[in-house]
Amino acid sequence: MSFKEKYGPWALITGASSGLGVEYALQIAEKGLNVVLVARRIQLLEQLAEKIKNQYQVEVRTIELDLASEGFYSVLEQQTADLDIGLVVNNAGINCEGDFYRGDLNRNIQMLRLNVEAPFIIAYNMVKKLLERGKGGLIFTASSSAFQATPYLSHYGATKSYILSLAESMNYEFSGRNIDVIALCPGMTESEMTKGMKGSPIVMKAAPVVKLALDKIGKEAFVVPGLGNKIQVFMTQRILGRDIARVTTGALMKKVLLGGKKKK
Ligand SMILES: NC(=O)c1ccc[n+]([C@@H]2O[C@H](COP(=O)([O-])OP(=O)(O)OC[C@H]3O[C@@H](n4cnc5c(N)ncnc54)[C@H](OP(=O)(O)O)[C@@H]3O)[C@@H](O)[C@H]2O)c1
Repeated sequence: MSFKEKYGPWALITGASSGLGVEYALQIAEKGLNVVLVARRIQLLEQLAEKIKNQYQVEVRTIELDLASEGFYSVLEQQTADLDIGLVVNNAGINCEGDFYRGDLNRNIQMLRLNVEAPFIIAYNMVKKLLERGKGGLIFTASSSAFQATPYLSHYGATKSYILSLAESMNYEFSGRNIDVIALCPGMTESEMTKGMKGSPIVMKAAPVVKLALDKIGKEAFVVPGLGNKIQVFMTQRILGRDIARVTTGALMKKVLLGGKKKK
């Protein structure tokens, strides 16, 4: 069965206004699926919609929506009620970094809603529809930070550990029921989130990162793109163990995010 037959005719992509979400939209449309693009910045979504329609001759729907807002799902449901969605890409996310206690509480709560609550609510509701139609898939964008404690990125890392655990468990529960679930676990990737690091050799392009998820859905429960990230995950999971991984990751993150300075 082709990608389009298995996951079409429509794919829903959250966080499609920049970064990885744009790449998901382009690559999924290239496979012949119609796409629903969701984010807050509607102008960016509309520009992307024009590009996709011209380039791939598929249908595109844009939805301006704050996924961290109360009751967002009823808006999403209402605006997609007429569409036969076979692929759900839970990708939208933000981060909070630095000393745990110095972060802004409201932004942290926003992140919890966007990175955890929204993908859960979407998955919970959409998987029932996928089961009814007898086939489909869900992609979650987690992170390589999901695999171990990430001091100085503590809360963000915790949201991604939740997503990885959820996706892996769903992958098991729905295997054999024709519903494929995969978590994409990128390291540093070019996007608005990493715009300060553009050009750094450790930052991957978004295209191969997203391609891996689309190539491996139905075959793997999670994927880690890039050799450096794969080595990091292998080391923390198989060689170091949780205690040493926490200490080495903490030292590294302190250097990268705080410039090694000890703050009071
Ligand atoms: N880039 C990396 O190095 C990296 C590494 C690992 C994992 N990730 C994950 O990859 C995913 C995509 O992030 P990115 O790197 O592509 O960053 P990005 O360029 O900043 O994209 C984030 C997307 O999320 C959307 N978004 C943010 N707040 C939203 C809200 N309240 N409601 C609806 N949409 C919202 C943004 O759209 P609007 O602002 O228009 O709403 C944007 O489309 C995230 O889950 C992130 O955690 C990224």
